[in-house]
Amino acid sequence: MTNPVVVLVGPPGSGKSTVGRMLAERLGVGFRDTDADVEATAGKPIPEIFIDEGEPHFRALEAAAVRAAAEGHDGVLALGGGAVMAEATRALLHELPVVFLEVPLADAVKRVGLDAPRPLLAVNPRARWRELMDARRPLYLEVATAVVDTAGRTPEQVADAVLEAL
Ligand code: S3P
Repeated sequence: MTNPVVVLVGPPGSGKSTVGRMLAERLGVGFRDTDADVEATAGKPIPEIFIDEGEPHFRALEAAAVRAAAEGHDGVLALGGGAVMAEATRALLHELPVVFLEVPLADAVKRVGLDAPRPLLAVNPRARWRELMDARRPLYLEVATAVVDTAGRTPEQVADAVLEAL
């Protein structure tokens, strides 16, 4: 069994994938992203999984993807923003170095919507983002071994801060 060198958690727009890829390159290790793993398993993009099978099915695939990566990946791992809602996932994360990428709404808004569409932010994205963050912030803090503030920072600066926090 191998474990990730670091797991990145945080809301959509916190830069988990961008920073994660950068960190993996700097550390000379692989990068995995549970969103990509779920899409590979399902054979379709996340919005289609939500439409065709519903969010509970997506969450089940996500929890399985986290477990597989937490126990079988020795690089950097980025989790989908809602993965921490699963109690079993939080239990797994308690054993690992986990960095919570904290981000204010204004910064997240600049980033979300620019890449993959997110079903949970399809309508009223700012209000929904706030709701999700209010509900999940305690869960990110529960699993985090370190918190990195990404406000106004470039991905390079965030990656530096994550490396310092490890
Ligand atoms: C979700 C965030 C997305 C993706 C899915 C659900 C969420 O990942 O897993 O659309 O519940 O916040 P990112 O955090 O990488 O955008």
